[in-house]
Amino acid sequence: MPLDPKHLIELTDAALSADYTRVRRIAGNLARELAKAGNEGAAKELRALVRKRGVPLRASGYVETLPVDSKSRLPLVEEQAWPDNPIFLNEAGNRVFRDFLTDVQHVDELSAKGLASRLNLLLSGPPGTGKSLLAGHIAANLGRPFYVVRLDSVITSLLGDTGKNIRTVFDFVPSRNAVLFLDEMDAIAKLRDDRNELGELKRVVNTVIQGLDSLDPHAVVIAATNHAHLLDPAIWRRFPYKIEFGPPEVEVRADLWKHFLFEDKDGEQIADPLSVLSEGLSGADIETIALTARRHALLDKRDIDFGAVALAILNFRAGGSSMPQRTALEPEQKKQLAQGLKEKVSAANIARLLGVTRQAVYQYFKQEE
Ligand SMILES: Nc1ncnc2c1ncn2[C@@H]1O[C@H](COP(=O)(O)OP(=O)(O)OP(=O)(O)O)[C@@H](O)[C@H]1O
Ligand SMILES: [Mg+2]
Repeated sequence: MPLDPKHLIELTDAALSADYTRVRRIAGNLARELAKAGNEGAAKELRALVRKRGVPLRASGYVETLPVDSKSRLPLVEEQAWPDNPIFLNEAGNRVFRDFLTDVQHVDELSAKGLASRLNLLLSGPPGTGKSLLAGHIAANLGRPFYVVRLDSVITSLLGDTGKNIRTVFDFVPSRNAVLFLDEMDAIAKLRDDRNELGELKRVVNTVIQGLDSLDPHAVVIAATNHAHLLDPAIWRRFPYKIEFGPPEVEVRADLWKHFLFEDKDGEQIADPLSVLSEGLSGADIETIALTARRHALLDKRDIDFGAVALAILNFRAGGSSMPQRTALEPEQKKQLAQGLKEKVSAANIARLLGVTRQAVYQYFKQEE
């Protein structure tokens, strides 16, 4: 791809004005174009640079002014880099994701006809299912900075300061054309148990509601919670777009295995049985198992041990560790694994996972009887 001088000029301008956000956005776009043009190496390098967030800018004396807690000086909002891992969603999730982006991009057209609703999206579901990742993807897709609210600094034990911090956050948003991510919304609900002064929770909830209502119609707010039912109904109602993350379905698990274990290259034959086995695992669990197995293979200079991966899945589901073992499986372990997989996976697939012949698998089955 011939480099468009336009990008170079934009990039130089952004760099010399120490506009960290713009530098990152332009570099991100460039990386995407490089990848599209087949230059994955350069794209990767550029993304890695973008992730080294703002170090050279800070060295140049430029520091972004993000709001901080007035007493502790801890940041209330943190700008995070756009993710570079893909997100895998089920069909329903994908639909809301796409609809949401379309509505954000056409908000003026929609509001001209009185059809716009608040651009607030609520993500709910168990840990490690991709809520934070999706929020980052939305920011990246919109080309807007990704501001994550640090609820641990926002919620303080000092009476009154929590409300003040929430107001500070919402006052800050309109000055940036950003995506605001309120992570761990349950933290607010949990004030209920914290033996707080009686009205505290109510006041905090009201301040959040006022903050949400004060934003202009272009503001994009994403909130995440593990427990949607703990959320105050008045807050819940202010999020017209909702995605419920469950544990990933079998198709999504297959995508996750293909990505994390096989770097999106082939591997269906192994990814399919693994996705059947890994029911109940989150995306983050699958990532941990897959990357550990790849790490072992790389450092021990051998192929990935799929038997160890399958065993780690079964162990993890039984409440044990999710770390695949490093040493080769003993014959006895292979036998037990084959017998454990019998009900769920075909003999041919068990043979593939264990790296043995199909005959050997039938032998393992026989030894059970
Ligand atoms: N659906 C998914 N698609 C792709 N990667 C995923 C998915 N779910 C989890 N992951 C992987 O797991 C990591 C952790 O996910 P993430 O932080 O988004 O979870 P979360 O739902 O926000 O969890 P928590 O409730 O603990 O904050 C991601 O960065 C990604 O690498
Ligand atoms: Mg999260």
